[in-house]
Amino acid sequence: MKKLIAIILSMFIILSFMGCNTSVEEPEQNIPGKEMSDQDDQDQGDTQEKDGEERLIGVAMPTQSLQRWNQDGANMKAQLEAKGYKADLQYADNNVNTQIQQIENMITKGCDVLVIASIDGSTLTDVLKQAAENDIKVIAYDRLIMNSPHVDYYATFDNFKVGVIQGEYIVEKLGLDEEDGPFNIELFAGSPDDNNARFFYDGAMSVLESYIESGKLNIPSGQKDFSTIAIQGWESSNAQARMDNLITANYAGGEKLDAVLSPNDSLAIGIIASLNNSGFGEEDKPYPIITGQDCDKPNVIAMINGQQSMSIFKDTRTLASKVVEMVDALIQGNEAPVNDNVTYDNGEKVVPSYLCEPVYADANNYREILIESGYYEESDLEQ
Ligand code: BGC
Repeated sequence: MKKLIAIILSMFIILSFMGCNTSVEEPEQNIPGKEMSDQDDQDQGDTQEKDGEERLIGVAMPTQSLQRWNQDGANMKAQLEAKGYKADLQYADNNVNTQIQQIENMITKGCDVLVIASIDGSTLTDVLKQAAENDIKVIAYDRLIMNSPHVDYYATFDNFKVGVIQGEYIVEKLGLDEEDGPFNIELFAGSPDDNNARFFYDGAMSVLESYIESGKLNIPSGQKDFSTIAIQGWESSNAQARMDNLITANYAGGEKLDAVLSPNDSLAIGIIASLNNSGFGEEDKPYPIITGQDCDKPNVIAMINGQQSMSIFKDTRTLASKVVEMVDALIQGNEAPVNDNVTYDNGEKVVPSYLCEPVYADANNYREILIESGYYEESDLEQ
């Protein structure tokens, strides 16, 4: 009897051990970038450790005040850890000096690669020199780092195309190719210290300029140069203040406002607040077409409520997985995959870049783009 029990027990142990192994090997499908084969695992085993320790990757993000950067940081950390790296993730509260100090600390801690979403792209020249002296590779994340030869790669979305899509959305929704017009529009641009802001503006203007020239689009304020319409620090409050001024000076007599080009969601929030304070959103004073970018939760809710018209969706999971691929390539001494070798000149060199594809979401397609893709839960978008 004892013998029988022992046999059953040992069979049970063997079976549960096999079962346990199976579940460990189950792929974690929801983490892009975590699709390594066993062979990859073996190949990478040595390079992902240095002196028996996991390799450290510094991830410097600008601010936690906008949802997108929280999402970027969380995705980067999860995907780096899934590949066996240790991540040092830091947010700098949009303060340039804080970001420089954080990067200096990452260098001191002996990180192998720095992934940086800069606050002001032209303030990191000295600290990147320090990184280079310590043989640390640098990847510019979403925003190009300017005036430094020590930027190995750049991963972003096609920033010019972001602006093109916003411009085309305005053309389509106002029916500029069918209607006589003229339609009134006001233009906003992003922060002048962010290289992306210029690309968004140039992309949108490449579409809108001809309608402005022909008079089909009219800008009552007359303000259209990048430096006049740029909003420092991408601050909602600065956008709100500028929209207040535009309304007081140009729309106080009930003039209609048909569209506002807003390059991103933080500006759109300020613009909508200003419009609400001035009585827009009523039947006789409807909201203009308002563009945006990032699909931040409050903005998707504003789209569902009919306040904001659209927002560019940049899937931060895709960007993070591209950057993790670049990190892997750098650690192994390989070339990383890029798809653009001409566009992003940082003043010192053309930085090899990977541009991800932006798309737009609006009240009609947000379910498919944002919920069915698993980016948000339905409950995230409850008012
Ligand atoms: C990013 C946008 C973001 C903006 C403000 C830009 O560099 O590309 O997605 O809305 O910064 O944070």
